[in-house]
Order: sequence, then C-alpha cells, then structure tokens
Amino acid sequence: MNIGIIGFGGMGKTHAYAVENLKYFYSPLGFDAKILGVCCAHFENALKAKETYGFEKVYADEDELIADPLIDIVDICTPNCFHYETLKKALNAGKHVYCEKPLCTTADEAVEIAELAKEKGLICAVVFNTRFLLPVLRAKELVSEGRIGEVLSFQGRFLHSSATDPEKKAGWKQNRDVCGGGVLFDLGSHTIDLIRWICGEEFTSVSGLSQIAYKTRIGVNGEEWNTNADEAFYLTATLENGACGTITVGKIMQGTNDDHSFEIYGTKGSVAFDLMQPNFLRFYDGTRPEKERGYTLIECCGRYPAPSGVFPGVKAPVGWLRGHVGSMYNFLNAVANGVECYPSFDDGAAVQRIMEAAYESAQSGMRVDI
Ligand SMILES: NC(=O)c1ccc[n+]([C@@H]2O[C@H](COP(=O)([O-])OP(=O)(O)OC[C@H]3O[C@@H](n4cnc5c(N)ncnc54)[C@H](O)[C@@H]3O)[C@@H](O)[C@H]2O)c1
Repeated sequence: MNIGIIGFGGMGKTHAYAVENLKYFYSPLGFDAKILGVCCAHFENALKAKETYGFEKVYADEDELIADPLIDIVDICTPNCFHYETLKKALNAGKHVYCEKPLCTTADEAVEIAELAKEKGLICAVVFNTRFLLPVLRAKELVSEGRIGEVLSFQGRFLHSSATDPEKKAGWKQNRDVCGGGVLFDLGSHTIDLIRWICGEEFTSVSGLSQIAYKTRIGVNGEEWNTNADEAFYLTATLENGACGTITVGKIMQGTNDDHSFEIYGTKGSVAFDLMQPNFLRFYDGTRPEKERGYTLIECCGRYPAPSGVFPGVKAPVGWLRGHVGSMYNFLNAVANGVECYPSFDDGAAVQRIMEAAYESAQSGMRVDI
C-alpha cells in the first residue's frame, strides 16, 4: 500500500514514523505499507522532507498527490480548515483516507464526508490515536464487560501549558479561521471521543464555557493578533443512559505537559487513567469485600493485543525504546563527529569489576574491596 501524506508538520512526521516502525511492533505484520511521497504548503519543505526521510516522491500540491495512480491511501495532516475539501477530493478519487482530527470544522461537513466514504465503499479512519494506548484499551474492555456496572458519572481532562507564555506567537491554532475551533477542537475532540467510546454511550446534551485568557499575542507576521480561538473550554454533558460528567481542556494550565486523564464511575466500580502515567490503568472493583477494596494499579506496559506484544516486550514500559534511540544517536554522533562518546568501555569495565567482586563476596561470604 502506497501512502501519500498531505501536510508534513508535526503530525505528518508522526504518521511517517508510525508507518516506518510498524514492522518492528507487529509481527507478522501481514501487509506492506510505505510512505510514497508527501506535499506541503511550501514545495521546498516537501523537498526537504523527501531528502531527509528518503521518500520516493514529492508532489507540488495535494491535487497532484491525489491524482497519482500509485497512491492507494491519502493521509491528511493539514490544519483543520483544509480537511473537508481534501477529504472530498480524495474520496471522489477512490482513495482510502486516514485523516487527522477534527475530521472537519463543522458537523454538517463531517456527516457529508462520512456518508461519502460509505457511498464510495472506502476504508477511512479519523486519528483518535489515544484510543490505542494500552490502559485505554484495557479500560474499554473492563467497562464493556460490565466490571464497573452502569456508568453514572465521568470526568475528562486534557491539559497543556503550551499557551501560558504571553510572548509566544499566535499560530494557526490560535486562529479560528484556520483551526475552525480552539482547544475544544484540538484537545477536546480526543477526550470526547474517549468518553463516548469507553462508555459506549452517545452524548445527549452539553453545556459549554469557553475562555480566552491571553487576549492578544504577536501574530505570525509580527502584527498584533487578537486571539479568537478558545484557550480553555469547560464542558458538562449527559449521556444516553443518563450519566453526567465534565470535560475540561486547555492550554493555559501551568505545570501541565500532555495531561490527558479520565475517571469513569459506575454502579459497581470505576476506571481511571492519566497519560502522564501511561503504563497503568487504575481500576476500582466495588464488588470486592469491603475490607479488600481499593484501587488496583493494573500494569499495562507493552501488553498490546496480538500480533503485537512481541516487540519491545510485554514488560517494556512506554518510553523504554526512547532510551535506545538516545543511546544509538549518542554513539553514532560520536563516530560521525568525534564528540565525546559515553557510556565508555571504561564504564563497562568498572561495572564488570563490581559484579565480579559481588560474585566473589557471595561465594566467600566476605566483603570484597574494589
Ligand atoms: N492526533 C494527534 O495527536 C494530533 C496532534 C497534533 C495535531 N493534530 C492534528 O493534525 C493536523 C495537523 O496538525 P500539525 O500539528 O501537524 O500542524 P503543523 O502546523 O505542524 O503542520 C501542518 C502542515 O500542513 C501543511 N499545509 C498547510 N496547508 C496545506 C495545504 N493546503 N496543502 C498541503 N499542505 C499544507 C503545512 O505546510 C505543514 O507542513 C491538524 O488537524 C491537528 O488538529 C493531531
């Protein structure tokens, strides 16, 4: 399957990284997929991406990419306001589509696109990637199995601190004409999706409060910019079964990084997750004898459903691989540029000496000096 990525900023790179690494995580993968080419708003950026990441092709614009008969899948990673037109073009050209969230900037457009995809019989997905975090999959499983009973109440939060610096220039996410909505679109779409999916209930009503804390910023071209996209959003909601809850999202929360969390409370128990603790799901089983009750920290780590789990291993915590990437970079960079290389073989030998002495001590029962 040949994939063409439209828009190669943060998410374009993220999707390319995912495609290129699939074969390590899923075994047997059972299909071949590669990024054939990309296009960006500025051709020179697409060219740079081709050179940097070794893609075969680069396209002048999305029309050229979509028209390429070699492209099977169109992957849309552009700012939100462009999704609708690109989606229509890609679907009408008979391409399968992987599209970043939010799908569109209005519900009518999104419904039209969803209908078009069905009519064309194409395989399409919107990137609500947080569904695939292991503790989230486990939460879905437990709630679906009725382990927390009937859902009564929920809280979701997705908090960043990326807009706390008043000197930070406004980007397209501060411009409602481009993002279509503010942080509710940007972060809230994920949290709403998680609550709806895990609870298995449609939302039936909402009330909202939006906030712009930093009214003016410097615009992209140095002009004064009046922020018109919400920087925080506070939502209360009801679900089909009568459950009620709140969702808070924002980018003005000092001290937060990627703080995506939820708690779902049912008649028999509850589940809770925090992305900053990505290896664990907290589960409370209210049916246990009173004296044994308490939250269980369910270890999730690398225990993904088959055919995954083989690599990097079920016990490897999220982030373990990043250490290997750093280690390899450090070594190769030292070979290439002659900078200091560590941990050195001296470090290796020092550790070896300590271990040998420890064995000697275990055998003799005596303290061994090193
Ligand atoms: N799922 C997630 O975790 C997640 C995270 C961040 C952003 N997003 C979504 O991904 C999308 C892209 O966000 P981003 O953060 O990567 O933005 P970005 O600004 O980093 O990148 C946008 C890219 O789109 C390109 N572009 C703009 N207009 C274009 C056009 N008309 N044709 C071709 N390319 C064009 C730009 O050149 C740039 O390469 C948005 O919809 C955003 O909501 C999703």
